[in-house]
Amino acid sequence: MAIRNRMPPWHENFNLPNGRKLLLRPIRPEDGPPMQAAFNLLEPEAIRDRFLRQSNVAPPELVLLLTHPNPKTEIVLVAAEQLPPGEALVGALARAAIVPGTRQAEYTILVSHFVAGQGLGRQLMRKLVKWARRKYLDRLYGDTLKSNEPMMELALSLGFVAQPHPDSPELVRMVLELEA
Ligand SMILES: CC(C)(COP(=O)(O)OP(=O)(O)OC[C@H]1O[C@@H](n2cnc3c(N)ncnc32)[C@H](O)[C@@H]1OP(=O)(O)O)[C@@H](O)C(=O)NCCC(=O)NCCS
Repeated sequence: MAIRNRMPPWHENFNLPNGRKLLLRPIRPEDGPPMQAAFNLLEPEAIRDRFLRQSNVAPPELVLLLTHPNPKTEIVLVAAEQLPPGEALVGALARAAIVPGTRQAEYTILVSHFVAGQGLGRQLMRKLVKWARRKYLDRLYGDTLKSNEPMMELALSLGFVAQPHPDSPELVRMVLELEA
């Protein structure tokens, strides 16, 4: 009888082109301390500021929120070293959360420059789209600086379309309609 080596839900091994192996998996509370350390190192400064401002909370609370997602309304995935959570460095983080009272979810994604440009962003975005479809949502969207060519290119290549942001001329809203 064939024995399938199945991984838990939302887990996947990811081989970087340099041979290093990462694990894509849901975030765990133990990821908090390594993530807090990584936030302090993030570059460029502007991205860190924007990421933190977006969420409107100070870094320690943000880490607490990110590491304790509500499974009914959000998903937070990380790309981490293949070590126990708490020891593993977290190289990328992707979150989608249902906007309360709507059938839409908003995404946020952050790939450390140490591992950028190696396909992690694309794979994590694909997973967020899959999650949003499984929740039977109408749309998935994320706000991006107009100057952020990598994010715009990535989203466009996955079928998102660029729409004007309702509040800020500096931002563009990348929207994916999730028809059934
Ligand atoms: C945008 C971001 C998530 C991309 O992640 P990544 O892991 O580097 O991207 P990938 O290697 O998976 O590349 C996927 C696609 O993104 C686009 N892309 C990535 N880097 C790019 C660059 N430097 N210039 C132009 N397009 C780029 C390409 O379309 C690429 O597809 P291709 O490899 O087939 O050409 C990452 O750069 C990041 O975290 N940026 C800072 C945070 C941010 O801007 N978040 C968005 C707001 S929610």
